[in-house]
Amino acid sequence: MSAIHDATEPTRRDFLYLATGAAAAVGAGFLAWPFIAQMNPDASALALATSEVDVSQIAEGQVVTVRWRGKPVFVWNRTAKQVEEAKAVEIGQLPDPLARNENIEPDAPATDVNRAAKGKENWLVVVGVCTHLGCVPTSQQGEFGGWLCPCHGSHYDTAGRIRKGPAPENLPVPPFAFEGDTKLTIG
Ligand code: FES
Repeated sequence: MSAIHDATEPTRRDFLYLATGAAAAVGAGFLAWPFIAQMNPDASALALATSEVDVSQIAEGQVVTVRWRGKPVFVWNRTAKQVEEAKAVEIGQLPDPLARNENIEPDAPATDVNRAAKGKENWLVVVGVCTHLGCVPTSQQGEFGGWLCPCHGSHYDTAGRIRKGPAPENLPVPPFAFEGDTKLTIG
């Protein structure tokens, strides 16, 4: 009987120490959390997480710039000729052979089909930030009919792929989805 008593006594004391320590740790956690949490994006930033665009207003051949998470995104309703020009390019001609499209696998090749909207090949949606040092390129300019970056002369083609100049990568394709024929949601 006393053997059992001796064995349980330290356990009960240990438990009290543990319980006290755990309470202190939990208390510190609750105290620290608001200080850390306040650095997370606030409600107004989260509201900008997706952008909706009514694409019925964008004429054939027109590029519209919309704002998504503080960045410009180009939405281009490409003509059949511009799509054909993009399709005619061999992957071997491209400085960056990857699609850089967040909607498909990361190692997908930079074909026009892998860059354009799925099933709506006339639509090209790309983040309008030059992959060199972050300037905003000018639409339908440059030697390849896509974009020309005025900062150091990078040329992008009609699929937003880098073709000439110091920029290392194709303009990234952000996550997006079409709902029907008129509504585009970015993000
Ligand atoms: S930032 Fe575009 S070429 Fe340098």
